[in-house]
Amino acid sequence: MSALNEPGQLAVENVRTLAPYVPGKPIEELQRELGLTDIIKLASNENPFGASPQALAAMQRAIADTWLYPDGSGHMLKQKLAAKLGVAPDQITLGNGSNDLLVMLAEAFLAPGLEAVYSQYAFAVYPIAVQATGAKGVVTPGLPADSPMPLGHDLQAMARAITPRTRVVFIANPNNPTGTWVPAAELHAFIAATPPHVIVALDEAYFEYTAGLGLQDGIAWLREFPNLVVFRTFSKAYGLAGVRVGYAVSHPSVAGMLNRVRQAFNVSVVGLAGAAAALDDTAHLSAAVKVAVEERARVAAQLTKAGTRVLPSAGNFLMVHVGPGAKERFDTLLRRGVIVRPVGNYGLPEHLRVTLGTVEQNDRFLKAWEA
Ligand SMILES: Cc1ncc(COP(=O)(O)O)c(C=O)c1O
Repeated sequence: MSALNEPGQLAVENVRTLAPYVPGKPIEELQRELGLTDIIKLASNENPFGASPQALAAMQRAIADTWLYPDGSGHMLKQKLAAKLGVAPDQITLGNGSNDLLVMLAEAFLAPGLEAVYSQYAFAVYPIAVQATGAKGVVTPGLPADSPMPLGHDLQAMARAITPRTRVVFIANPNNPTGTWVPAAELHAFIAATPPHVIVALDEAYFEYTAGLGLQDGIAWLREFPNLVVFRTFSKAYGLAGVRVGYAVSHPSVAGMLNRVRQAFNVSVVGLAGAAAALDDTAHLSAAVKVAVEERARVAAQLTKAGTRVLPSAGNFLMVHVGPGAKERFDTLLRRGVIVRPVGNYGLPEHLRVTLGTVEQNDRFLKAWEA
């Protein structure tokens, strides 16, 4: 294939050989394909209750300012986050979603000749962000399917994979798509034993859903571990996935490096306003989290009763083992207007991931599943 007919082939090799991220199927696409009107999407771990009314009002007000560039330093949002988290504003980096920050971290700390370690079945953005830099992704095997945290991160294997060339270790706790987690004590011991030349990227995208399960609050560990970077997002529990706001909390010197590769205006006027207002509406957040946590247990129990194997989850979603019929099951659900997430791109063609919706949506999913 020549560069003449395929100019894309001029891209650098590590980008040409990248497998692109596979997003959940949009509702409009299924509408077009099957002519259905009443569709629910339980495929992208969004919050079915949406954004807080206060955030919606703030974003509506902010629309009037969209002819202006946003505050590139995100001053107001950083001040609010710093006060809430008990850190200094210069420890915070804002991102166009936390995905943006994961990419910034890779850009700032990785290059050809260096390595990043992540677990098999870890969040799909890590390999993409790493490979795009030309660094080597070192994948450690997921925990066995019959372990208490099936397919989860094996911290011992991850520790063994660290070499003098390693600069970043990615840990999603809990992990997407598996939902599995590592207990706080084990993770603490892992970070304590990680050599100082390695940044520990701790992805806490689902932090708000984890209470009571023995997971960490990574931000509380930042004083102890200067090489720790914690990633959080407004996309999940705060219901703001569409406006793309996330943040990383780190040592100020790491934040300084992320800031060097950050696009100057990476968070929009609307996103900044919505996220800041969302922080004030703790009632909306807790109500959404409460339903997700209750539904996590209820839907898991129902699926288990129906003979389906459900992985433990600390997120707002469940990973289920369907078996060889997973693709057919996915298609059947689509025909019934329910979009879930196939995870074949993770090397898991026999599993499906389902996001917890409202009680009514989950009932509809369960009915479609069991019929
Ligand atoms: C583990 C994990 N990290 C990060 C993200 C990125 O989310 P966002 O870019 O919307 O903040 C996701 C989204 O699905 C996720 O599951």
